Amino acid sequence: MGINLSEVNLAYLKEKKQYKYAIKDINLRIDNEDEFIAIVGHTGSGKSTLVQVLNNLLVPTFGHISINFRENNNDVYYNIKASGKKVKYAISKDNINVKYKARVSLKALRKHIGLVFQFPEYQIFEETVLKDIMFGPKNFLRDENKAKEEAIKIAEMMNISDLLDKSPFMLSGGQMRKVAIAGILASKPEVLVLDEPTVGLDPIAKRDLLEFLKYLNEVEHKTIIIITHDMDVVGEYAKRTIVLNKGCIMYDGSKDEMFKNDEVIKTCNLNYPNIVKILANLKKKLNIDLDIYKYNIDDAFKELNRVLGDNHE
Ligand SMILES: Nc1ncnc2c1ncn2[C@@H]1O[C@H](COP(=O)(O)OP(=O)(O)O)[C@@H](O)[C@H]1O
Ligand SMILES: [Mg+2]
Repeated sequence: MGINLSEVNLAYLKEKKQYKYAIKDINLRIDNEDEFIAIVGHTGSGKSTLVQVLNNLLVPTFGHISINFRENNNDVYYNIKASGKKVKYAISKDNINVKYKARVSLKALRKHIGLVFQFPEYQIFEETVLKDIMFGPKNFLRDENKAKEEAIKIAEMMNISDLLDKSPFMLSGGQMRKVAIAGILASKPEVLVLDEPTVGLDPIAKRDLLEFLKYLNEVEHKTIIIITHDMDVVGEYAKRTIVLNKGCIMYDGSKDEMFKNDEVIKTCNLNYPNIVKILANLKKKLNIDLDIYKYNIDDAFKELNRVLGDNHE
């Protein structure tokens, strides 16, 4: 799986001949397996636009997007080229160009890049949880029984088997979100994109969801891309962070380097994870040589022990 965005722009017409760019000159490669990316930035900085461009829910105004995935043992290249006037789509197999078409099947693309919206509750529409989870695979597999099998398997994996016969509209917020995610996962995407998935969840549901994403990333080797404002989540789960500012990528790299980059933190008004804040305070108060860039309790303890010795455990 490879995603490559080159000089991608998306503009909205504000008034006569006046454009506002939601994303601007985006150059981005996502092609390692096992990536766990957090996209952060102010409200309105273009985060939701960027992820919707990835699976062609939004079409760029200018730029080139190339997405490569395996389908039926073929390498498939999905290309979108936009010139400001026209958008061209092309799909090619094993690098042999198949002629440009006005529109190619989006099914394949969306099967490989699954997008969970900010309030995935709105993505649920079937009368039972089982039917809802089956919807995607039924579409791709064209086989009701296989789709059902797939849905039951995913439900087991996500610990929601007891919900399968229920109406999705009877569920709690956390359960609904899980059902919506299960629905997307049932199509077996290699890349799972989630737009602010933890907003509005209680702490237990939030941790449950994040641990599940971690499992998908580490055990199932899926690439996870989440949009979040929560720096504790970034600190603990993300490997790579992308910071958007006014539609542009201001930073793309490791979370460590991001938190150490004062310019990025200040310009984008980013917070530090709570653990980093506590360690920074201790470092100042105790005047000790502490590495404050630790993102979970265990690592913070180890670092404190290293500096203060076992007596202070
Ligand atoms: N349908 C639309 N029409 C006009 N402007 C839009 C539309 N959708 C988004 N925008 C603008 O594009 C910019 C980026 O929006 P968005 O991607 O939703 O940001 P974020 O997810 O970071 O909050 C914002 O300034 C927003 O107002
Ligand atoms: Mg958004």
